[in-house]
Amino acid sequence: MNPLISLAANAPKAELHLHVEGSFEPELMFEIAQRNGVKLPFATAEEIRAAYDFANLQEFLDIYYQGMSVLLHERDFYDLTMAYLRRAHEDNVIHAEIFFDPQGHTERGVDFADVVGGISRALDEARDQWGMSSRLILCFLRHLSEEDAFAALEQAVPHLDAIAGVGLDSSEVGHPPSKFARVFAKARDMGLHVVAHAGEEGPPDYVWEALDVLKVQRIDHGNRALEDAELVARLARDKTCLTVCPLSNLKLCVIDDMKHHPIKTMLEAGLAPCVNSDDPSYFGGYVNDNFAALIEALPLSRDDVAQLLRNSFAGSFLAPDEKAAALARLEDYLDGAP
Ligand code: HPA
Ligand code: ZN
Repeated sequence: MNPLISLAANAPKAELHLHVEGSFEPELMFEIAQRNGVKLPFATAEEIRAAYDFANLQEFLDIYYQGMSVLLHERDFYDLTMAYLRRAHEDNVIHAEIFFDPQGHTERGVDFADVVGGISRALDEARDQWGMSSRLILCFLRHLSEEDAFAALEQAVPHLDAIAGVGLDSSEVGHPPSKFARVFAKARDMGLHVVAHAGEEGPPDYVWEALDVLKVQRIDHGNRALEDAELVARLARDKTCLTVCPLSNLKLCVIDDMKHHPIKTMLEAGLAPCVNSDDPSYFGGYVNDNFAALIEALPLSRDDVAQLLRNSFAGSFLAPDEKAAALARLEDYLDGAP
């Protein structure tokens, strides 16, 4: 095996861009559908996987919302989250920042408290079992209205001990960050962290808006920022973390070949990308698979891989002392690794 692939695989790392509903493996989907008496429009897990052939973000989202519709009870959200955490732990993820889409559940009549309750019970268990730390980030669905986003934020109020921040996901083009300026202002006033998907399919202007209007602390994806030199200079100056998702980019045709993935260019431009799996069940791999795909396709150096790993902790919402401890643990690992 390429030694850089093992270096990355065995390294302690953080994952900062993971939609828990996107980690829903078809086998678990069937199990939960059966116990909830929900009928899926597929006969087997293989049939589900065969449907995962997407030309763009929207084609993926249509099937992603269909998949999550079998989740009804607290236990379902616990099982879903625990399955991801177990898999992430195998990939040496020691800190995970996890997105969830409450509007995709509450609009089906699921209780907000059951969604957050199930997810956070699993996060607590991962902390107790493996010392894995985590943060939970509520994503607003940007194809829905500002009013709907405000309602989701309101529902979060009794659960702020479990929710560290807000994000923005779903169909990007036609739904610029500025649509949610007031919701994000309120979330910031509430002391929540703020991030947003931008520049995955949307133009560099959406990245500018995420930074200047929503005042985000990280950009999720950010690929198209590279089209705007002034924006690149801004992101480099501020060392804004970009939560990049290579296999997602390939599956959603944001890139046509992993050999054309922009992460090396991002590093050379002084940006701060890290590596993430986005929706691993749908895109064919967890975080270590994403590192492996990049290392196989691009001329990444050992320093590049080390920097990507460092960026995952540097860009996290860990407290300063926790962040310093995680970075020190990574440096120890890198010093001792072959
Ligand atoms: N982009 C936008 N919305 C999403 C994604 C994504 O990559 N994954 C889940 N919802
Ligand atoms: Zn995403």
